[in-house]
Amino acid sequence: MRLIFLLAATLWFFGLVSLSVGEEAKSGVADDLAPAGRAFALQVCAACHVVAKDQQSAPILKPPAPSFVAIVRRPKTTEAFLRAFLGAPHGKMPNPQLADFQIDEVVAYMLSLKQRR
Ligand code: HEC
Repeated sequence: MRLIFLLAATLWFFGLVSLSVGEEAKSGVADDLAPAGRAFALQVCAACHVVAKDQQSAPILKPPAPSFVAIVRRPKTTEAFLRAFLGAPHGKMPNPQLADFQIDEVVAYMLSLKQRR
């Protein structure tokens, strides 16, 4: 009987621990998505923007669109701005028609460039 109680207590304890680990993981979500966003941007955005210093070829758009680093350095470039921008057609940039998860990834990547300033 005591053994069962001990087992239940142990399970309960580890349940709590994994719950709190889950909370921490949630707050770090942006960091987790950034690598996928980087890969995606290299494929989809790099024809017009410099999306990463080590991208394979220079943008084919002449003159190129502002680099991602230049974009995220602007004070107006918040997460909300990026989400709104990528969710609709704007200016000279064609409507990217990204899926929500692609927006999540690419926004996470762009914001990660901001932090690395
Ligand atoms: C066909 C070329 C092209 C592609 C592909 C492209 N962009 Fe752009 N983008 C532009 C141009 C040009 C601008 C400058 C805005 C303007 O002049 O209207 C721009 C502007 C932006 C801006 C806003 C900068 C500002 O003025 O505040 C963001 C953010 C952005 N692009 C993100 C992306 C992302 C993310 C992708 C990939 C999913 C992407 N772009 C793909 C051409 C492109």
